[in-house]
Amino acid sequence: MDSGLKGRHFTRIADWAAEELLAVLELADELKRARARGEEHALLPGRAVGLLFAKPSTRTRVSFEVGVAQLGGTALYLSANELQLGRGETIRDTATVLSRYLDAIMIRTFAQADVEEFAGAASVPVINGLTDSTHPCQALADAMTIRERLGRLEGVRVAYVGDGNNVLHSLAAICNRLGMEIVAATPAGYEPDPDEIARAGGIDLVRDPREAAAGADVLYTDVWTSMGQEAERERRLRDLAAYRVDDSLLRVADEGAIVLHCLPAHYGEEITEEVLYGPQSAVWDEAENRLHVQKALLALIVP
Ligand code: CP
Ligand code: NVA
Repeated sequence: MDSGLKGRHFTRIADWAAEELLAVLELADELKRARARGEEHALLPGRAVGLLFAKPSTRTRVSFEVGVAQLGGTALYLSANELQLGRGETIRDTATVLSRYLDAIMIRTFAQADVEEFAGAASVPVINGLTDSTHPCQALADAMTIRERLGRLEGVRVAYVGDGNNVLHSLAAICNRLGMEIVAATPAGYEPDPDEIARAGGIDLVRDPREAAAGADVLYTDVWTSMGQEAERERRLRDLAAYRVDDSLLRVADEGAIVLHCLPAHYGEEITEEVLYGPQSAVWDEAENRLHVQKALLALIVP
């Protein structure tokens, strides 16, 4: 597949042009249909993809492992602590050596700078599987789900309610790139990072969740305590209590609005069980779509 994207890293949404992101979404739709019809789509026969995790994962790990297998390749789960990286081998040396064995590397870790350093040293494409600052693969699945459910991206109003975190940063970036409106309601002290928002192309920030949700086509939330913030959990529960996505907030949104959540969810914290499993929830399709967008991404960037 000659995509013009072979060899590209995917560490931030903001580094990719609208037409490049749309190429991923197009192929993802096609691969989803192919899988549903049971059609062969081994676009990466014999390739090996390393999946390096310094944080836990359910969706990212399984969707990448299964996705690579469906493309005809082999995926290797690599726990950061079990590599020499955990004993002080440098990112540079690790990336240089892994590039000799692997055709692409996905990394989930803490610092965005570590992923960028890894990409700088690697001679194969590097994919960001979540950092403290961004979650670009999630944003691809979010955009795919929005387009699938609403039939368009242009002009869609996306309202994010809760903690201004990594997921919001990448969501804002893909909204701006693909012509969606993005508004976020967070408590004071939980606003998204200004540098990330500048890179993402801006956001409409409000305090009142109902103001954000008013007329929204998409109501989005994420956990209040992200991986690595466990010590702040009690404070976060208190400070974010008014930012729960529940039936009353959903009623303020557009009648045909869908609810998204990247998962894992905490019932009764950022979202109620009723909304998560309710008729407007597109959360389970959103989780499935991680598989399709990541397969598309790999097929386009892995040489
Ligand atoms: N949404 C997401 O990235 O889920 P995991 O942490 O389970 O990979
Ligand atoms: N904001 C969450 C997303 C989990 C997929 C975290 O970083 O833990």
